Amino acid sequence: MSLKRALIFLGPPGAGKGTQAKQIAKNCGIPHLSTGDMFRDAISRGTELGKQVKPIMGRGELVPDDLVMKMVEERLSRPDCAQGFVFDGFPRTLGQAAQLDRILEERGFSKPLVIDLAVSEDKLMRRLTGRWTCSLGGEIYNVYDAPPKRPGICDVDGGKLVQRLDDRPEVVKERLAAYERQTKPLTDYYREKGVLETIDAGAGVGEVNRALRQVLNGDKRS
Ligand code: AP5
Repeated sequence: MSLKRALIFLGPPGAGKGTQAKQIAKNCGIPHLSTGDMFRDAISRGTELGKQVKPIMGRGELVPDDLVMKMVEERLSRPDCAQGFVFDGFPRTLGQAAQLDRILEERGFSKPLVIDLAVSEDKLMRRLTGRWTCSLGGEIYNVYDAPPKRPGICDVDGGKLVQRLDDRPEVVKERLAAYERQTKPLTDYYREKGVLETIDAGAGVGEVNRALRQVLNGDKRS
């Protein structure tokens, strides 16, 4: 990916944004910025922000834009974000997208590249209810499709695998509804700006990754 550019992963809960965004960020040597991970970190540290967002996330609703933007602006001001970054789960409303446009312009960044990971709803439920995440390094597994070698233990660092509280079926339903209502309109927003690429993310992890690399390589040449 070219320098001074943001890569944005869009897509519903369970589409594979985190799985793909982490790998791409690592390969490009730029930070992976997941607003969901940042909020979960604030919750586990018991900060004021964590106390505010915990009940909202527990219901599967979106955190208000002002809290999201304050956290994101603070994170982007750190030196490791100077040349580019990968957003996973941000922006998620038209308001957040408009504010991000302003921030990128102020920082002299070119237009972002936005990847929409498209997956049917029946697959999303299986991916979310089967997900386990490493409590140390954040590695993502799926008991059905990408299990760890030893049950409950991370292959990479031996950390304990945990399940997210918002992956309960009743909360997943609300998260999917919030996506349809508030986040899906962003596909039209970015399509109209000519920066949207849609990838069929219903295939396996490796196949999705190959499709993604093709898009990124094409982007490098353009
Ligand atoms: P967040 O943490 O961003 O969750 P999400 O968007 O709901 O997305 P997920 O993390 O659930 O899924 P993913 O697409 O990353 O999939 P993953 O790679 O893990 O947000 C959580 C909450 O925080 C929100 O509900 C909201 O309250 C709040 N929040 C966060 N950002 C916000 C914002 N900007 N504004 C307002 N509120 C905000 O994969 C899922 C599973 O599928 C894994 O088990 C994985 O192994 C498996 N898998 C992945 N790819 C494949 C594949 N190709 N084939 C088979 N299995 C696969």
